[in-house]
This record gives sequence, C-alpha cells and structure tokens, in this order.
Amino acid sequence: MNKKIAVLPGDGIGPEIIRQGIKVLEAVADPFNHHFQYCYNLVGAVAIDQTGNPLPQETLDTCLQSDAVFFGAIGDPKYDNDPNAKVRPEQGLLGLRKYLGLYCNVRPVTAYPTLIKQSPLKEDRVKDVDMLIYRELTGGIYFGEKGRRDDGKTAFDTCVYTVAEIERIAHLAFNAAGKRRKKVTLIDKANVLETSRLWRDTIHKIAPKYRDIKVDYMFVDNAAMQMILWPAQFDVILTSNMFGDIISDEASVITGSIGMLPSASIGIETSMYEPIHGSYPQAKGMNVANPLATILSAAMMLEDWGMIKEAKSIRHAVNYLLEHGFGTEDLNPKNKLTCSQTGDLVATIVAEEDPHPLKLEKLTKRFTTII
Ligand code: IPM
Ligand code: MG
Repeated sequence: MNKKIAVLPGDGIGPEIIRQGIKVLEAVADPFNHHFQYCYNLVGAVAIDQTGNPLPQETLDTCLQSDAVFFGAIGDPKYDNDPNAKVRPEQGLLGLRKYLGLYCNVRPVTAYPTLIKQSPLKEDRVKDVDMLIYRELTGGIYFGEKGRRDDGKTAFDTCVYTVAEIERIAHLAFNAAGKRRKKVTLIDKANVLETSRLWRDTIHKIAPKYRDIKVDYMFVDNAAMQMILWPAQFDVILTSNMFGDIISDEASVITGSIGMLPSASIGIETSMYEPIHGSYPQAKGMNVANPLATILSAAMMLEDWGMIKEAKSIRHAVNYLLEHGFGTEDLNPKNKLTCSQTGDLVATIVAEEDPHPLKLEKLTKRFTTII
C-alpha cells in the first residue's frame, strides 16, 4: 500500500522521537511491501521562528492532502513564561485540531506488567489497568469565546458545547466500548456546569441504543480520586476537552511513564497521531527522551489503516524490549538506552519478526556495553 504521511516534528524533543517513529515505520514498510512517503513540515515554535506563524498554510495544506499526520511535540519555555506573547506554539496544535476537524482524541492507558514497578502507585492498584480515554478535542473551553474586558483586570474563557458535538464523539466511545469490557464512564461536572448537564442529557438519550453497554456517570473531582484509588474500574472514559486533558495526564502516571502513552486524533479530515507528552525542552537534542509513545502512535496509525499485522509487530517489539528490561532513563535509570538506540532496537525486532534469541542477545549486549 502507498501512504502519504505529513510529518510534523515540532519543538523540543519532537524531532528526535519522530526520527525513531519513522525508523520503525520503515522497518515495517519493507517486509510488508508498503511504501510510505514522508512530507516534513513546520509547526509550533520552530514555525514561529522561521515564518512568524505557528501553523503555516503550507503545513495545513500538506496535512489535508495526506493520509495521516504524524506529530511530535509542541511548546517552548520562551513562550510559556510570557503571558503577553501574541503568538504561541500551542496555537499550531489547536489550529490543526480545528482545521482538520479532529473532534475525537483517543488515549489508551495500559499497564505493562514489566513497568508496574515504575508506577508510583501500588502494584495491586495498577495491575489490571486497561482504559481508553475518549476526549472531545475541538470544543469546550479551549475553543469558546475568550478575552479581557476593557478594565484590563478581568478575563474570561467560555465553555460551549452543542448536542451534535457531544453525540458524534459519544457514538465513537460507545462503539469502542462494545469491542471491549462494555462500559462507558462519562466524566463531567454536572453538579455545577450547564454544559456538563447537556453532556448527561445527550448520553441518557444515546445509551438505550447500546443496550449491552453499562454507563457510569462520575464528577471530575471524584474521577481524579478514583483514578488513583481504583484505576482498573475504568474501561472507556468519555469526557470534554479540558477534563480529558487533565485526566489523561493523571492516568499516564499510573503506567510508570508518560513517555509510554500514544494517541490518535480522529474526525473529519486527516487523522493525526502523536504522543501525549509534551516537548520536554530540558532534554532537547540530548538523545535521552523515550520514543515509545511516538512509536506506539505509529502503530495506532497503521491499525486505523487496517494494517493490523504490521501494528502487531511494532507492539510485539515494544513488549519484547520492555520484557527484557530495556528502556530509556525514565524506564530504566540503571541500564538505560538512548532515544535512538531504543528506536534501533524496536526497528530491528520489527524487521526480523521472530529474531533468533542469540541475535537479540548479541544486539542488546552491544547496546548495553556502549552506554
Ligand atoms: C495535550 C496538550 C495540549 C492540550 C497543549 C499542548 C495545547 O496538553 O495534547 O494534551 O492542552 O490539548
Ligand atoms: Mg495535555
């Protein structure tokens, strides 16, 4: 199959993690007879620096003409610390979501048995965690009217949702739950917010169409607590833009490292695949960042194209690496691999499909001795 991929490495560690993702995609392309064409474009702070615009038209056009967008990370401290900055790198990402109509952000959170010890939570809380977060991505307080009043001392952000916006993501969440443990938890703040009450109303109306799915309703403050107390209770979480942003960062900690969490953003135009972590500017160019979230995002992209075996070979390689105690410093501080070594190792295992144990032993020895 031929596929055209818009590649947007972005800021901070973005370029180095994306490089590993491409390495792994290339390792898959060959044995499975695919041809991936990569179109690199600017987004975020690097785009502001070079063009003055965090989302240049050329980038947007490339994305619209591609089969998928493969995205690294966005953000730069020089903008974070300046509340008066007129343009911000994040506008690049938010603009992409809006223009591509990516209303549904899927964030799987899975506890890898080999990483359970990394988790700050106790093992028995973490061990059966396997949830899918469905975060609404193009509405709510992120995109409502915002501004400052003339007195300069008052600011506002408005949270707006329509039934149609809630319905389209809800159907995706219910369908996903149907293929899993058949439970949807709506996380909201319906005891306070009118928009949350509209979410509940809408879900009440949709739920009877999915008779085999159990629906739970949970206030976001309680959900934040339940996420730590008993995370394994969640199957599919359905929530608004801002609550999903916060809950998914919290959930990522359970797995031991935010560097493990991939995501897919789907909707009207081209879908986008990106790790959920940020641009980690302190590590930029140091070759230490964990590329696995990016590599697993590539696997999600292949799955959405129906390339199931190909994605499986990536997941197998990632599992192999973890099972054998390999990982970047966030996973394995004592015996760490660099970002590019991690990419090399995953790519090698993918390419060999079922590598001979002796070959792997040799390979992994090579990695450990050069550190
Ligand atoms: C995320 C990020 C973004 C968000 C930022 C970078 C705008 O935190 O994708 O979760 O808030 O959506
Ligand atoms: Mg976030």
